[in-house]
Amino acid sequence: MFNGGSAKSLIDLQRGEVSREVFVNENLYREELERIFARAWLYIGHESQIRRPGDYFVSCMGEESVILTRDPAGQPRAFLNTCRHRGMKVCRYDEGHTVHFICPYHGWSYATDGRLVGVQQYETAYQPPFDRAQWGLIEVAQLATYRGTVWATWDPAAPPFLDYLGEARLALDLALGPWDGGDGETELLGSVQKWLIPSNWKFVAENFAGDGLHVVSHRSVDMVGIGPNQREGRRDDFGSLFLAAAPRWGHGITYSYLPADAERNDYAASMETSRYFKECWEKRRRKLGERAGLQVIVGTIFPNMSMHGQQPRTILVAHPRGVDMTEMWRVYFVDKDAPREVKQFLRHYYIRYSGPAGMTEQDDMENWNYATSASRGTIARRYPYHYKAGLGVGSIHQFIPGLVTGQPVSLSSEQNTRILYRRWAEFMDASSWSELTAARDS
Ligand code: FES
Ligand SMILES: [Fe+2]
Repeated sequence: MFNGGSAKSLIDLQRGEVSREVFVNENLYREELERIFARAWLYIGHESQIRRPGDYFVSCMGEESVILTRDPAGQPRAFLNTCRHRGMKVCRYDEGHTVHFICPYHGWSYATDGRLVGVQQYETAYQPPFDRAQWGLIEVAQLATYRGTVWATWDPAAPPFLDYLGEARLALDLALGPWDGGDGETELLGSVQKWLIPSNWKFVAENFAGDGLHVVSHRSVDMVGIGPNQREGRRDDFGSLFLAAAPRWGHGITYSYLPADAERNDYAASMETSRYFKECWEKRRRKLGERAGLQVIVGTIFPNMSMHGQQPRTILVAHPRGVDMTEMWRVYFVDKDAPREVKQFLRHYYIRYSGPAGMTEQDDMENWNYATSASRGTIARRYPYHYKAGLGVGSIHQFIPGLVTGQPVSLSSEQNTRILYRRWAEFMDASSWSELTAARDS
């Protein structure tokens, strides 16, 4: 598929090297849209964005606009945002509430279950009448919800979402669940922050899959002390770190672990917030015992959904917009039942940390942007990137699923990024999901 060769030839996992073509080649990028974004399960939104029938949120899958809505029967549905008549976007708002999506071009209208319900001059202009049931909005092949998040794929042959998550399911449970470890809900703080960066989308995916070495580039933020306790550092103490990859699926997670008898002092800069987190930690210890202190720091669900599990708690989707352009969409989470003051404090802390104005994210973006532009030259692209740290180190852990690397190597291992690129190559080379499943199980 790439100059007649395979994508696998661009990824040398034995040596820990990845060709720069993976990040700068225009043809490969077009193939990614077909082979990855039209087949993988993609995060498209959160149920709290579509609480009532008729609520909608305009999301995207790959480069394409998709309407996530709730139909009259209360089911979440997702449709390509394009009119079946002549292609106009049928919804041009970011989010809202409606009974019908009415196309502004020639006035066709669609119900929130996708049915074409209104066609101008239908009785007089079409002889014989055409079957409107065949001309509804184009719907995703599969849709799944998990702990409030909504996911979809265009491929009817893709495995069920929970299979697709593999060993990374625990990470979503931890990152999306309430802080006290119970069954309560989390909710979004406001809506989505969106912004463009001149970078290939995979820099974002691999960074959050597990790249402990890059924290050196956050040194200035550490010194400024934007941490929740307003001391040096960006976060409170989380204990030991573990890298865990879902080896067959390409997902990568960084977990932290504190023993259950540890005393926590999260968010000490706010009395209200600190008290709330202490209460939650007590409940969490009672409920989860020795596993109470296991949390997600960051992670990537292949291909482009990344999460922070604690400080801050947020989801980022790196939507591809060209080989060297990415549209970042970030949302922030809080416990639904947390006091108002706590939500307010966390909102300030989260956006100071992440997002277009977040000090930590600004460091990351600068790295990704310049790495992209400095890699696309004729000479630069002849030389592979280096992913050799922690080669061959991962093993099985007592209660963290997947291929796990603990300290001290976890801070430097590039195991999760290597596994992400192995899965990337499998997607790019396979012509169907049955080939992808065979590659996964081999
Ligand atoms: S393009 Fe939508 S009605 Fe014509
Ligand atoms: Fe970073």
